[in-house]
Amino acid sequence: MIDGRTIEYAPTAKPGGSSVDRKGCFVKVLIAGGAGFIGSTVASVLLDGGHQPVILDNLVTGRREFCAGRTFYEGDIADAAVLDRIFDDHPDIAAVVHCAALIVVPESVARPIVYYRENVTKTLEFVDHLIGKGVSRFLFSSSAAIYEPGADFSVDENSALNAMSPYARTKMVVEQMLTDISASTPLRVLSLRYFNPIGADPKMRTGLQVAAPTHALGKLVEAYRAGRPFTVTGLDYPTRDGSGIRDYVHVCDLAAAHLRALEIFDALFEGGQSRSMVINLGTGRGTTVLEFVDAFNKVVDTPVAVAPAPRRPGDSAGAYTRSTRAADLLGWRAEHTIEEGIKDSLAWFDQRSQVLPDLAGQG
Ligand SMILES: NC(=O)c1ccc[n+]([C@@H]2O[C@H](COP(=O)([O-])OP(=O)(O)OC[C@H]3O[C@@H](n4cnc5c(N)ncnc54)[C@H](O)[C@@H]3O)[C@@H](O)[C@H]2O)c1
Repeated sequence: MIDGRTIEYAPTAKPGGSSVDRKGCFVKVLIAGGAGFIGSTVASVLLDGGHQPVILDNLVTGRREFCAGRTFYEGDIADAAVLDRIFDDHPDIAAVVHCAALIVVPESVARPIVYYRENVTKTLEFVDHLIGKGVSRFLFSSSAAIYEPGADFSVDENSALNAMSPYARTKMVVEQMLTDISASTPLRVLSLRYFNPIGADPKMRTGLQVAAPTHALGKLVEAYRAGRPFTVTGLDYPTRDGSGIRDYVHVCDLAAAHLRALEIFDALFEGGQSRSMVINLGTGRGTTVLEFVDAFNKVVDTPVAVAPAPRRPGDSAGAYTRSTRAADLLGWRAEHTIEEGIKDSLAWFDQRSQVLPDLAGQG
């Protein structure tokens, strides 16, 4: 419940009704960045739920193998020709999930122009084309990295924003740009602010695809498998143990939130008071990096040691969500534990060369 409103499902079928199933849920959804870590998991959850993801990805970091057996278009989100082809082939696409972006914080510090071009300029082109195609339902992969952490590091959707890196600022700028666009076009926008995704598809179809991951868990698994200490970047934050604080959420829980949001999208915007909305997607529990290493060491046979290192450029102390909006509006809560996320990540790292043979022996 928010603003006295309880959200119930109220589908709006398109003329002809072909874009909604019998339960009233959208069938065909375009996923930009659907060959990446999160987008491929969203595609899996949609497929498992009987929906039809249509994937658009330029494979700059994503993997063709994650699209095997799926409807996949290789191309850039700003490429009008590929969008024409997709909508000619699939005029019944009912919603768009936009996960396509460059996401590496230190790289964004070194190459800000590339990050603003790929994440901001291209999103503007993408959305312009989509509106031309009649798209009115848009989910944007935003990030909790845009928050100014409060004194206790907890944040909700009304907390102050203060993005600390060019990467995070691209997310903030895009959110604001989408809000402006939604005010005077048919597009309605739900920005989902992810906290710290961990884990992998439990069916091992997809997982973290980068050989040298920059996410904390990816680096921890890498350190474990190499028998090296795990480097904790920054032990001088004003947290309970000096390490950064995060809200680790299983990638399958994140994906499930997208499905839920798609199911009730029209109901979310019913009444027309707002045309853009933000929702935090986290567990609601803050875990410091050192606590996370402890959780990891409870799951593995040989504990990983910790090596302290200075903060990286653009890093922040981090934050966790205190918001109940996802539960109130989407009826969604993270269901997996941190340990489950760690176990699924370890299983993925053990098996990923079966899906991604070029990563055999790496990490
Ligand atoms: N992973 C995280 O920790 C995290 C946290 C918060 C938010 N997010 C957001 O979630 C989204 C997905 O992140 P991810 O972790 O899956 O990253 P990822 O790199 O695995 O996936 C991004 C995908 O987008 C594709 N892509 C990038 N630019 C493109 C373009 N111009 N045209 C077409 N495809 C393009 C890439 O090839 C890749 O498949 C991103 O928008 C990211 O900002 C991620």
